[in-house]
Amino acid sequence: MKSFTIRTKSVEESRIVCRAGILRTTLVRALADYREVFFFSDRNVWELYGRKIGRAYRNSPVHIMPAGEAHKTPETLFKLLAAMAEAQLHRGACLVCLGGGVVGDVGGLAAALYMRGIDCIQIPTTLLAQVDSSVGGKTAVDFAGVKNLIGAFRQPRYVFADPTFFATLPPREVRCGLGEIVKHGALHAPLFDMLWENRGRLTDGDFLAAIVPENIAFKAEVVRQDADEKGLRKCLNLGHTTAHAFELTDGKLSHGEYVLVGMIFEAELAKKFAGGDAAYLDDLEDLCRIALGSVPALPPAREAARLARLDKKNAVSDEVVLTVPVRKGEYKLLSLGFDVYAAELERIQRALTEGGAAC
Ligand code: NAD
Ligand code: GLY
Repeated sequence: MKSFTIRTKSVEESRIVCRAGILRTTLVRALADYREVFFFSDRNVWELYGRKIGRAYRNSPVHIMPAGEAHKTPETLFKLLAAMAEAQLHRGACLVCLGGGVVGDVGGLAAALYMRGIDCIQIPTTLLAQVDSSVGGKTAVDFAGVKNLIGAFRQPRYVFADPTFFATLPPREVRCGLGEIVKHGALHAPLFDMLWENRGRLTDGDFLAAIVPENIAFKAEVVRQDADEKGLRKCLNLGHTTAHAFELTDGKLSHGEYVLVGMIFEAELAKKFAGGDAAYLDDLEDLCRIALGSVPALPPAREAARLARLDKKNAVSDEVVLTVPVRKGEYKLLSLGFDVYAAELERIQRALTEGGAAC
Protein backbone atom coordinates (compact mmCIF):
# COMPACT_ATOMS: atom_id res chain seq x y z
CA MET A 1 0.00 0.00 0.00
CA LYS A 2 1.15 3.57 -0.71
CA SER A 3 -0.44 6.74 0.60
CA PHE A 4 0.06 10.47 0.18
CA THR A 5 -1.34 13.56 1.85
CA ILE A 6 -1.90 16.88 0.11
CA ARG A 7 -1.92 19.84 2.46
CA THR A 8 -2.63 23.02 0.54
CA LYS A 9 -2.61 26.59 1.87
CA SER A 10 -6.32 26.25 2.67
CA VAL A 11 -7.58 24.10 5.56
CA GLU A 12 -8.53 21.24 3.25
CA GLU A 13 -6.50 18.07 3.35
CA SER A 14 -6.74 15.24 0.90
CA ARG A 15 -5.51 11.72 1.65
CA ILE A 16 -4.83 9.37 -1.23
CA VAL A 17 -4.54 5.62 -0.68
CA CYS A 18 -3.43 3.18 -3.41
CA ARG A 19 -4.19 -0.46 -2.65
CA ALA A 20 -6.15 -3.43 -3.94
CA GLY A 21 -9.46 -4.33 -2.30
CA ILE A 22 -10.42 -0.87 -1.02
CA LEU A 23 -14.16 -1.61 -1.13
CA ARG A 24 -13.66 -4.36 1.46
CA THR A 25 -11.74 -2.55 4.19
CA THR A 26 -10.38 0.93 3.50
CA LEU A 27 -13.72 2.43 2.50
CA VAL A 28 -15.55 0.90 5.46
CA ARG A 29 -12.98 2.37 7.87
CA ALA A 30 -13.14 5.84 6.27
CA LEU A 31 -16.94 5.89 6.34
CA ALA A 32 -17.08 4.95 10.00
CA ASP A 33 -16.59 8.68 10.72
CA TYR A 34 -19.86 9.64 8.96
CA ARG A 35 -23.47 9.24 10.07
CA GLU A 36 -24.78 10.02 6.56
CA VAL A 37 -23.30 8.56 3.39
CA PHE A 38 -24.56 9.06 -0.17
CA PHE A 39 -23.27 7.10 -3.19
CA PHE A 40 -22.97 8.45 -6.74
CA SER A 41 -21.96 6.43 -9.78
CA ASP A 42 -22.76 5.81 -13.45
CA ARG A 43 -24.84 3.00 -14.85
CA ASN A 44 -21.92 0.90 -16.20
CA VAL A 45 -19.84 1.12 -13.06
CA TRP A 46 -22.75 0.53 -10.67
CA GLU A 47 -23.75 -2.57 -12.62
CA LEU A 48 -20.21 -3.91 -12.22
CA TYR A 49 -19.43 -2.86 -8.64
CA GLY A 50 -22.63 -1.58 -6.99
CA ARG A 51 -23.51 -4.90 -5.40
CA LYS A 52 -20.22 -4.96 -3.47
CA ILE A 53 -21.04 -1.58 -1.97
CA GLY A 54 -24.71 -2.38 -1.46
CA ARG A 55 -23.83 -5.25 0.86
CA ALA A 56 -22.09 -2.98 3.37
CA TYR A 57 -24.33 0.09 2.98
CA ARG A 58 -27.79 -1.28 2.35
CA ASN A 59 -29.53 1.76 3.85
CA SER A 60 -27.47 4.50 2.18
CA PRO A 61 -29.06 6.37 -0.73
CA VAL A 62 -27.58 6.00 -4.23
CA HIS A 63 -27.90 8.17 -7.33
CA ILE A 64 -26.88 6.79 -10.73
CA MET A 65 -26.18 8.93 -13.81
CA PRO A 66 -26.05 7.69 -17.42
CA ALA A 67 -22.45 7.00 -18.49
CA GLY A 68 -20.41 9.30 -20.71
CA GLU A 69 -19.16 12.83 -21.32
CA ALA A 70 -22.46 13.79 -23.02
CA HIS A 71 -24.05 13.66 -19.54
CA LYS A 72 -21.45 15.83 -17.78
CA THR A 73 -24.01 18.65 -17.72
CA PRO A 74 -25.72 21.05 -15.31
CA GLU A 75 -28.88 18.88 -15.69
CA THR A 76 -27.04 15.83 -14.32
CA LEU A 77 -25.51 17.97 -11.56
CA PHE A 78 -28.92 19.34 -10.50
CA LYS A 79 -30.52 15.87 -10.54
CA LEU A 80 -27.79 14.72 -8.17
CA LEU A 81 -28.22 17.78 -5.91
CA ALA A 82 -31.99 17.20 -5.89
CA ALA A 83 -31.47 13.57 -4.83
CA MET A 84 -29.10 14.69 -2.06
CA ALA A 85 -31.66 17.24 -0.84
CA GLU A 86 -34.42 14.62 -0.96
CA ALA A 87 -32.26 12.34 1.18
CA GLN A 88 -32.04 15.29 3.65
CA LEU A 89 -28.26 15.16 3.87
CA HIS A 90 -26.71 17.44 6.47
CA ARG A 91 -23.42 19.27 6.35
CA GLY A 92 -21.60 16.41 8.06
CA ALA A 93 -22.52 13.96 5.27
CA CYS A 94 -20.10 12.33 2.85
CA LEU A 95 -20.63 11.89 -0.89
CA VAL A 96 -18.85 8.84 -2.33
CA CYS A 97 -18.14 9.08 -6.08
CA LEU A 98 -17.51 5.69 -7.69
CA GLY A 99 -16.60 5.93 -11.37
CA GLY A 100 -14.43 7.51 -14.02
CA GLY A 101 -13.56 11.17 -14.49
CA VAL A 102 -17.11 12.13 -15.46
CA VAL A 103 -18.62 10.81 -12.21
CA GLY A 104 -15.72 12.31 -10.24
CA ASP A 105 -16.05 15.76 -11.83
CA VAL A 106 -19.86 15.96 -11.46
CA GLY A 107 -19.88 14.45 -7.96
CA GLY A 108 -16.96 16.58 -6.81
CA LEU A 109 -18.82 19.71 -7.92
CA ALA A 110 -22.04 18.61 -6.19
CA ALA A 111 -20.06 18.05 -2.97
CA ALA A 112 -18.50 21.52 -3.33
CA LEU A 113 -21.93 23.17 -3.79
CA TYR A 114 -24.25 21.27 -1.44
CA MET A 115 -24.64 23.39 1.74
CA ARG A 116 -21.51 25.26 0.56
CA GLY A 117 -19.47 22.10 0.75
CA ILE A 118 -19.61 18.61 2.24
CA ASP A 119 -16.93 15.90 2.36
CA CYS A 120 -16.33 13.81 -0.70
CA ILE A 121 -14.53 10.51 -1.26
CA GLN A 122 -13.33 9.76 -4.78
CA ILE A 123 -13.07 6.11 -5.84
CA PRO A 124 -11.74 6.40 -9.41
CA THR A 125 -12.43 3.32 -11.53
CA THR A 126 -10.68 4.27 -14.81
CA LEU A 127 -6.95 4.59 -15.36
CA LEU A 128 -7.35 8.26 -16.33
CA ALA A 129 -9.36 9.02 -13.20
CA GLN A 130 -6.79 7.31 -10.93
CA VAL A 131 -3.71 9.06 -12.33
CA ASP A 132 -5.28 12.42 -13.06
CA SER A 133 -8.86 13.57 -12.55
CA SER A 134 -9.50 12.28 -9.00
CA VAL A 135 -6.33 13.96 -7.68
CA GLY A 136 -6.15 17.69 -7.15
CA GLY A 137 -9.68 18.92 -6.51
CA LYS A 138 -10.69 20.18 -9.96
CA THR A 139 -14.42 19.59 -10.45
CA ALA A 140 -16.70 20.70 -13.29
CA VAL A 141 -19.55 20.22 -15.73
CA ASP A 142 -19.63 21.22 -19.41
CA PHE A 143 -21.86 24.17 -20.34
CA ALA A 144 -22.77 26.21 -23.44
CA GLY A 145 -20.68 23.90 -25.62
CA VAL A 146 -17.55 24.51 -23.55
CA LYS A 147 -15.83 21.71 -21.60
CA ASN A 148 -15.56 22.26 -17.83
CA LEU A 149 -16.99 25.80 -18.03
CA ILE A 150 -18.72 25.60 -14.63
CA GLY A 151 -16.63 24.23 -11.79
CA ALA A 152 -14.81 24.69 -8.53
CA PHE A 153 -11.58 23.74 -6.83
CA ARG A 154 -12.31 21.57 -3.79
CA GLN A 155 -10.06 18.77 -2.54
CA PRO A 156 -11.71 15.40 -1.87
CA ARG A 157 -11.31 14.16 1.71
CA TYR A 158 -9.97 10.82 0.40
CA VAL A 159 -9.04 9.27 -2.93
CA PHE A 160 -8.95 5.46 -2.99
CA ALA A 161 -7.12 4.12 -6.06
CA ASP A 162 -7.56 0.38 -6.52
CA PRO A 163 -5.94 -1.41 -9.51
CA THR A 164 -8.49 -4.25 -9.42
CA PHE A 165 -10.96 -1.94 -11.23
CA PHE A 166 -8.74 -2.17 -14.36
CA ALA A 167 -9.76 -5.82 -14.87
CA THR A 168 -13.06 -4.70 -16.43
CA LEU A 169 -11.75 -1.62 -18.27
CA PRO A 170 -12.05 -1.71 -22.09
CA PRO A 171 -8.61 -1.44 -23.88
CA ARG A 172 -9.56 1.96 -25.28
CA GLU A 173 -10.01 3.34 -21.76
CA VAL A 174 -6.55 2.00 -20.85
CA ARG A 175 -5.07 3.91 -23.84
CA CYS A 176 -6.96 6.98 -22.69
CA GLY A 177 -5.26 6.82 -19.25
CA LEU A 178 -1.87 6.22 -20.86
CA GLY A 179 -2.14 9.67 -22.48
CA GLU A 180 -1.93 11.39 -19.09
CA ILE A 181 0.65 8.87 -17.80
CA VAL A 182 3.04 9.59 -20.71
CA LYS A 183 2.39 13.32 -20.18
CA HIS A 184 3.50 12.96 -16.55
CA GLY A 185 6.55 11.07 -17.87
CA ALA A 186 7.38 14.03 -20.11
CA LEU A 187 7.40 16.26 -17.01
CA HIS A 188 9.18 13.98 -14.54
CA ALA A 189 12.39 12.13 -15.54
CA PRO A 190 12.09 9.08 -13.17
CA LEU A 191 8.63 8.38 -14.56
CA PHE A 192 9.88 8.69 -18.13
CA ASP A 193 12.61 6.13 -17.38
CA MET A 194 10.06 3.71 -15.91
CA LEU A 195 7.86 4.05 -18.98
CA TRP A 196 10.75 3.72 -21.44
CA GLU A 197 12.15 0.62 -19.70
CA ASN A 198 8.70 -0.99 -19.72
CA ARG A 199 7.57 0.21 -23.14
CA GLY A 200 6.81 -3.38 -24.21
CA ARG A 201 4.26 -3.84 -21.39
CA LEU A 202 2.52 -0.49 -21.01
CA THR A 203 -0.93 -2.09 -20.80
CA ASP A 204 0.09 -4.99 -18.58
CA GLY A 205 -1.97 -5.10 -15.34
CA ASP A 206 1.05 -5.49 -13.02
CA PHE A 207 2.83 -2.60 -14.69
CA LEU A 208 -0.24 -0.36 -14.41
CA ALA A 209 -0.61 -1.23 -10.72
CA ALA A 210 3.01 -0.16 -10.20
CA ILE A 211 2.95 3.01 -12.29
CA VAL A 212 -0.32 4.46 -10.91
CA PRO A 213 1.09 5.36 -7.43
CA GLU A 214 4.16 6.95 -9.10
CA ASN A 215 1.86 9.12 -11.22
CA ILE A 216 -0.29 10.06 -8.25
CA ALA A 217 2.78 10.99 -6.21
CA PHE A 218 3.98 13.26 -9.01
CA LYS A 219 0.62 14.95 -9.53
CA ALA A 220 0.01 15.29 -5.76
CA GLU A 221 3.31 17.15 -5.41
CA VAL A 222 2.41 19.56 -8.23
CA VAL A 223 -1.00 20.18 -6.61
CA ARG A 224 0.57 20.62 -3.16
CA GLN A 225 2.73 23.41 -4.56
CA ASP A 226 0.04 25.09 -6.68
CA ALA A 227 -3.49 23.86 -5.88
CA ASP A 228 -5.35 26.67 -7.65
CA GLU A 229 -3.25 26.67 -10.84
CA LYS A 230 -1.55 30.02 -10.56
CA GLY A 231 1.80 28.78 -11.88
CA LEU A 232 3.46 25.36 -11.67
CA ARG A 233 0.23 23.37 -12.17
CA LYS A 234 0.00 24.82 -15.70
CA CYS A 235 2.78 22.38 -16.68
CA LEU A 236 0.04 19.71 -16.67
CA ASN A 237 -1.23 21.31 -19.91
CA LEU A 238 1.74 19.81 -21.80
CA GLY A 239 0.61 18.58 -25.23
CA HIS A 240 -2.95 19.72 -24.49
CA THR A 241 -3.20 22.79 -26.77
CA THR A 242 -2.80 20.71 -29.92
CA ALA A 243 -4.70 17.80 -28.33
CA HIS A 244 -7.75 20.03 -27.62
CA ALA A 245 -7.57 21.50 -31.13
CA PHE A 246 -7.83 18.05 -32.77
CA GLU A 247 -10.38 16.92 -30.16
CA LEU A 248 -12.65 19.90 -30.85
CA THR A 249 -12.33 19.38 -34.62
CA ASP A 250 -13.67 15.83 -34.80
CA GLY A 251 -13.94 14.27 -31.33
CA LYS A 252 -13.66 10.70 -32.66
CA LEU A 253 -10.87 9.60 -30.30
CA SER A 254 -10.77 9.64 -26.51
CA HIS A 255 -9.24 12.63 -24.70
CA GLY A 256 -6.15 10.60 -23.74
CA GLU A 257 -5.59 9.49 -27.34
CA TYR A 258 -5.66 13.16 -28.43
CA VAL A 259 -3.16 13.97 -25.67
CA LEU A 260 -0.77 11.35 -27.11
CA VAL A 261 -1.24 12.82 -30.60
CA GLY A 262 -0.80 16.37 -29.25
CA MET A 263 2.50 15.40 -27.62
CA ILE A 264 3.84 13.96 -30.92
CA PHE A 265 3.07 17.25 -32.71
CA GLU A 266 4.38 19.45 -29.90
CA ALA A 267 7.60 17.39 -29.56
CA GLU A 268 8.22 18.16 -33.25
CA LEU A 269 7.57 21.87 -32.63
CA ALA A 270 9.96 21.79 -29.66
CA LYS A 271 12.77 20.40 -31.85
CA LYS A 272 12.41 23.29 -34.28
CA PHE A 273 11.44 26.26 -32.09
CA ALA A 274 12.38 25.51 -28.46
CA GLY A 275 15.89 24.04 -28.74
CA GLY A 276 14.56 20.60 -27.75
CA ASP A 277 16.83 17.55 -27.46
CA ALA A 278 16.00 15.64 -30.67
CA ALA A 279 17.14 12.19 -29.48
CA TYR A 280 15.04 12.42 -26.29
CA LEU A 281 12.04 13.84 -28.14
CA ASP A 282 12.22 10.98 -30.67
CA ASP A 283 11.99 8.54 -27.74
CA LEU A 284 9.04 10.46 -26.27
CA GLU A 285 7.27 10.34 -29.65
CA ASP A 286 7.93 6.59 -29.84
CA LEU A 287 6.37 6.14 -26.40
CA CYS A 288 3.28 8.02 -27.59
CA ARG A 289 3.05 5.82 -30.70
CA ILE A 290 3.41 2.63 -28.62
CA ALA A 291 0.67 3.83 -26.24
CA LEU A 292 -1.60 4.68 -29.19
CA GLY A 293 -1.02 1.36 -30.98
CA SER A 294 -0.67 3.32 -34.22
CA VAL A 295 -1.12 6.98 -35.14
CA PRO A 296 -4.86 7.25 -35.83
CA ALA A 297 -6.59 9.12 -38.66
CA LEU A 298 -6.85 12.82 -37.78
CA PRO A 299 -8.84 15.72 -39.24
CA PRO A 300 -6.98 18.30 -41.40
CA ALA A 301 -4.34 20.09 -39.30
CA ARG A 302 -5.28 23.57 -40.58
CA GLU A 303 -8.82 23.19 -39.23
CA ALA A 304 -7.44 22.10 -35.86
CA ALA A 305 -5.00 25.04 -35.80
CA ARG A 306 -7.92 27.45 -36.22
CA LEU A 307 -9.46 26.10 -33.01
CA ALA A 308 -6.15 26.28 -31.12
CA ARG A 309 -6.24 30.02 -31.81
CA LEU A 310 -9.30 30.27 -29.52
CA ASP A 311 -7.55 28.47 -26.64
CA LYS A 312 -7.99 30.35 -23.36
CA LYS A 313 -4.26 29.98 -22.58
CA ASN A 314 -3.35 32.37 -25.43
CA ALA A 315 -2.41 35.89 -24.40
CA VAL A 316 -3.37 37.47 -27.74
CA SER A 317 -5.54 36.18 -30.56
CA ASP A 318 -2.90 35.83 -33.29
CA GLU A 319 -0.59 33.65 -31.28
CA VAL A 320 -0.81 30.13 -29.88
CA VAL A 321 0.77 29.30 -26.50
CA LEU A 322 1.98 25.76 -25.90
CA THR A 323 3.61 23.88 -23.01
CA VAL A 324 6.13 21.75 -24.90
CA PRO A 325 8.57 19.02 -23.78
CA VAL A 326 12.22 19.97 -24.42
CA ARG A 327 14.54 17.64 -22.46
CA LYS A 328 13.99 14.72 -20.08
CA GLY A 329 11.90 16.16 -17.21
CA GLU A 330 11.94 19.68 -18.71
CA TYR A 331 9.30 21.72 -20.49
CA LYS A 332 9.05 25.25 -21.89
CA LEU A 333 6.25 27.69 -22.71
CA LEU A 334 6.39 28.32 -26.46
CA SER A 335 4.48 31.12 -28.24
CA LEU A 336 4.06 30.79 -31.99
CA GLY A 337 2.32 33.16 -34.39
CA PHE A 338 -0.89 31.58 -35.66
CA ASP A 339 0.30 31.32 -39.31
CA VAL A 340 3.54 29.60 -38.31
CA TYR A 341 1.67 27.19 -35.98
CA ALA A 342 -0.89 26.28 -38.67
CA ALA A 343 1.79 25.74 -41.35
CA GLU A 344 3.88 23.62 -38.96
CA LEU A 345 0.95 21.40 -37.97
CA GLU A 346 0.33 20.75 -41.68
CA ARG A 347 4.02 19.97 -42.26
CA ILE A 348 4.13 17.54 -39.31
CA GLN A 349 0.90 15.86 -40.38
CA ARG A 350 2.30 15.38 -43.92
CA ALA A 351 5.53 13.93 -42.54
CA LEU A 352 3.63 11.51 -40.29
CA THR A 353 1.45 10.39 -43.20
CA GLU A 354 4.46 9.93 -45.52
CA GLY A 355 6.21 8.02 -42.72
CA GLY A 356 3.47 5.37 -43.06
CA ALA A 357 1.15 6.54 -40.30
CA ALA A 358 -2.35 7.40 -41.50
CA CYS A 359 -2.73 10.96 -40.19
P1 NAD B 1 -15.60 8.30 -18.06
O1 NAD B 1 -15.83 8.70 -16.69
O2 NAD B 1 -16.60 8.68 -19.08
O3 NAD B 1 -15.39 6.71 -18.10
C1 NAD B 1 -15.19 6.09 -19.35
C2 NAD B 1 -16.13 4.89 -19.54
O4 NAD B 1 -15.64 3.80 -18.76
C3 NAD B 1 -17.55 5.14 -19.07
O5 NAD B 1 -18.43 4.51 -19.98
C4 NAD B 1 -17.62 4.42 -17.72
O6 NAD B 1 -18.92 3.99 -17.40
C5 NAD B 1 -16.69 3.27 -17.95
N1 NAD B 1 -16.01 2.72 -16.78
C6 NAD B 1 -15.52 3.40 -15.73
N2 NAD B 1 -14.85 2.56 -14.92
C7 NAD B 1 -14.95 1.33 -15.45
C8 NAD B 1 -14.45 0.05 -15.08
N3 NAD B 1 -13.66 -0.13 -14.01
N4 NAD B 1 -14.75 -1.02 -15.87
C9 NAD B 1 -15.50 -0.84 -16.99
N5 NAD B 1 -15.97 0.34 -17.41
C10 NAD B 1 -15.70 1.42 -16.64
O7 NAD B 1 -14.18 8.84 -18.63
P2 NAD B 1 -12.75 9.08 -17.96
O8 NAD B 1 -11.79 8.92 -19.08
O9 NAD B 1 -12.57 8.30 -16.72
O10 NAD B 1 -12.81 10.62 -17.55
C11 NAD B 1 -12.94 11.63 -18.52
C12 NAD B 1 -13.41 12.88 -17.83
O11 NAD B 1 -12.44 13.29 -16.88
C13 NAD B 1 -13.61 14.07 -18.78
O12 NAD B 1 -14.84 14.66 -18.52
C14 NAD B 1 -12.48 15.02 -18.41
O13 NAD B 1 -12.83 16.38 -18.61
C15 NAD B 1 -12.29 14.71 -16.96
N6 NAD B 1 -10.97 15.07 -16.44
C16 NAD B 1 -10.92 15.80 -15.30
C17 NAD B 1 -9.70 16.15 -14.75
C18 NAD B 1 -9.66 16.89 -13.45
O14 NAD B 1 -8.59 17.33 -13.04
N7 NAD B 1 -10.78 17.06 -12.78
C19 NAD B 1 -8.50 15.73 -15.35
C20 NAD B 1 -8.59 14.97 -16.52
C21 NAD B 1 -9.83 14.63 -17.05
N1 GLY C 1 -5.60 17.63 -15.27
C1 GLY C 1 -4.85 18.81 -15.06
C2 GLY C 1 -4.93 19.33 -13.67
O1 GLY C 1 -5.46 18.69 -12.79
O2 GLY C 1 -4.48 20.41 -13.43
